[in-house]
Amino acid sequence: MRCFYRLLVFLAALAAGTAAWAQAPNYKNVGRAPTPDEIQAWDKAVGPAGRELPPGSGTAKEGAEIFVEKCAVCHGPAGEGSNMAPRLVGGKGTLTTPQPVLTIGSYWAFATTGFDFINKGMPRGQEGSLKPDQVYALTAFLLYKNEIVKETDVLDAKTLVAVKMPNRNGFIPQQLDEIHDIKKRGCRLGHCP
Ligand code: HEC
Repeated sequence: MRCFYRLLVFLAALAAGTAAWAQAPNYKNVGRAPTPDEIQAWDKAVGPAGRELPPGSGTAKEGAEIFVEKCAVCHGPAGEGSNMAPRLVGGKGTLTTPQPVLTIGSYWAFATTGFDFINKGMPRGQEGSLKPDQVYALTAFLLYKNEIVKETDVLDAKTLVAVKMPNRNGFIPQQLDEIHDIKKRGCRLGHCP
């Protein structure tokens, strides 16, 4: 059923794409090129290796106060989640059970991309309003609540990269042939996915 739905979505997208191409819209007089300042304000994606991390630092202790003020209303005072936002704490050891609990602690592969998500996407409705120190502190707080760092650990561009997330090796590579062990790759009778 799900597959069928996906196929429908795909066909609809294909049809829409073809129609748009047939009309070939002309955007010549629409919009303008962004200024370098505008690009800089948006261009703050932080990848897994953390090379783009800004200067600044924070601890879980500092993050706890910011969390109460800016995050608890949706995620609950202890990050336990609510009907407005997902749970951010717990779930350790549940990923291989029938009811996996996916949180930034149990599931996410990199602390750096956790920073990135909070930096760009939270608090919902006021995205982009947090200063780097606050994002470091909030990341530290969530990692502390998930028993990954200590309450007094100072997170910055260096120490955040060094944090090893529990599910770091729980993902399969995008290219399946990067899995060298053919059993793990799911090869059967000489045929590999
Ligand atoms: C207005 C409600 C709201 C507030 C306030 C809010 N969040 Fe969220 N948050 C959400 C919702 C909804 C999602 C899930 C949807 C999504 O991923 O965009 C989410 C997702 C997240 C996630 C990703 C969870 C996951 O495992 O996918 C993190 C981390 C997070 N929020 C951290 C924060 C932090 C830190 C703050 C405070 C600075 C905050 N949020 C404030 C609503 C909120």
